[in-house]
Amino acid sequence: MCGIIGAVLVQGLVAPLIRQSLKRLEYRGYDSSGIATVNAGRIYIKKDKGKIDDIHRRLNFDALPGVIGIGHTRWATHGPPSRQNAHPHIDCSNRIAVVHNGIIENYQELRESLVDRGHILLSETDTEVLPHLIEESLQTTKELVQAVAKILPQIEGSYAIAVLDTSGTALVCARKESPLLLGLGTTGFYCASDVPAFLPMTRKTLVLEDGEIACLTAQGAVLYRLLSTGGLAQLPPRQPTTVQWTLDMAEKGGYPHFMLKEIHEQPRALLDTLRIRKEKLQKFAEEINKHQTVCAVAAGTSYHATLASRYMFSQIAGRFMHSVVASESPEIIDTSLGNDAVIIAVSQSGETIDTLHALKGLKRQGCTILAITNTVDSSITRLADDVLYTQAGPEIGVAATKTFVTQLACLASLSIHLGEITGKQKHREASELFLKLNKIPDLLQSIIRNRESLVKETAQQYVAKPSFFFLGRGISRATAMEGALKIKELAYVHAEGYPAGESKHGPIALVEEGFPVVFVAPNDRTRRFILGNIMEMKSRLAEIITICSSEDERLIELSDRVVAMPPTLSNIFSPIGYVVPLQFLAYYAAIQRGFSPDQPRNLAKAVTVL
Ligand code: M6R
Repeated sequence: MCGIIGAVLVQGLVAPLIRQSLKRLEYRGYDSSGIATVNAGRIYIKKDKGKIDDIHRRLNFDALPGVIGIGHTRWATHGPPSRQNAHPHIDCSNRIAVVHNGIIENYQELRESLVDRGHILLSETDTEVLPHLIEESLQTTKELVQAVAKILPQIEGSYAIAVLDTSGTALVCARKESPLLLGLGTTGFYCASDVPAFLPMTRKTLVLEDGEIACLTAQGAVLYRLLSTGGLAQLPPRQPTTVQWTLDMAEKGGYPHFMLKEIHEQPRALLDTLRIRKEKLQKFAEEINKHQTVCAVAAGTSYHATLASRYMFSQIAGRFMHSVVASESPEIIDTSLGNDAVIIAVSQSGETIDTLHALKGLKRQGCTILAITNTVDSSITRLADDVLYTQAGPEIGVAATKTFVTQLACLASLSIHLGEITGKQKHREASELFLKLNKIPDLLQSIIRNRESLVKETAQQYVAKPSFFFLGRGISRATAMEGALKIKELAYVHAEGYPAGESKHGPIALVEEGFPVVFVAPNDRTRRFILGNIMEMKSRLAEIITICSSEDERLIELSDRVVAMPPTLSNIFSPIGYVVPLQFLAYYAAIQRGFSPDQPRNLAKAVTVL
């Protein structure tokens, strides 16, 4: 998730405006940034690794000349943060500059054929293929907008791009699956990943739809539909809407809190994570398979992701995986594991000191370390032998939400690849599992759309309760534990996440009339046992809140409150969907109890103390 901005001014210098816009997009990524402008037939670029203000102090972005410019703030996906990998990227002849947000899946093939045709590419990014392809296209096409349109049909993956060239009359932008909005002002025209970028200049905005291209000039914006042949069909002018948001609201996408925004971003984050290259996952899975012992190490929510994935590894790949809380690792596995062990280290931030400390010990013992993280160039990436990046984009709310579902998606994909290697899954069965996994972003969208208000009511009903149980069996135990963690950390309510079968061995003693027990109960092979656990709680007059399939009539009948889930959500991947109501529950419980969900007390986004 990067931030892009493009601007065409009627007069004045565009660079200071772009720099300030980038500041307002910095929440989308901040490991490098850059600006390109065009003036008198020449492109000017300043870019570097680091935060915008620091780069500006060193390079002075504002000195770039011209009324047309593009800017980018990067959240690295292909290639580490560096000057070379920072956007904008240019072609061989310095005639075209491009900024891009998204992932070009077939960039490797495109890159190889460009190199074969004599192009010199300087970065490791997927984006850099774009200016070079446009360079070729401009040899046979006069207008920039036509040249861009011509190359887009061959781009697989997602993009929001802004392009300028030395003709210096127009800026072209296009979009497929990554956000891009137009801002229509009186003194300038803009395109950006998000409204805050141009909010101080204009409140009039248009959403550019997938497959549309816009050409911005000092006279306004002309919209086109991209044809599969690479041609263009001009669209009739569209009425802009007027945004009423304050800047603070706009930064949160109109949501009152980052956490709510991030819950709503989960389908997108999942989709991007499911695009991780097959070869990369395959390589990871092969490395895992080489080792006798597989052990996951993580903390907090990331630990819960590893707990869920144990069931995936076992049921899909036939491989047993240990899962150890990072802070406990030195006491239990440091001295017992050696070079026949592979460690799967999961950390959103890549900076959790418990996890890093555990990994250092395990590395000394000769273990192979494979990291899954959301943060490029974080400390964990330097300790690891290989790294997989989840594609959640920066997560600002302290509570992990979208990073949790992307970790699960990553581990689920890994388990399918591993299953094919171990022979537990035939190729056809693995393909069916991938199909099921790829359906989840849409299912998540429908859960978010259809269940939020119901969960909000549920939170209202139980907000005064001092204590909760969250129970699940099998893979749902991890979901239950995550639900309990969320409500504890955000609403400051006591909650226990427990294996449902274990609840009768002690915790049930706490249950009395009206005690709320949340059951996470997909229709998998544990369901007949969970039915018994529900009966045990019911007979002690507990209030039963169940998250189960909308087709599970028996559980629905037994429960006081139900959050029904789509029956098409595959059981083995169910935590990815079933956690969403629990995130909403914690969020709304916090709001109703008067606490800020974005910054819970005593917590930090990255915990860097042992
Ligand atoms: O950055 P990490 O994934 O390593 O963080 C681990 C935990 O601190 C983290 O998951 C924490 O539990 C969550 N913020 C809770 O929502």
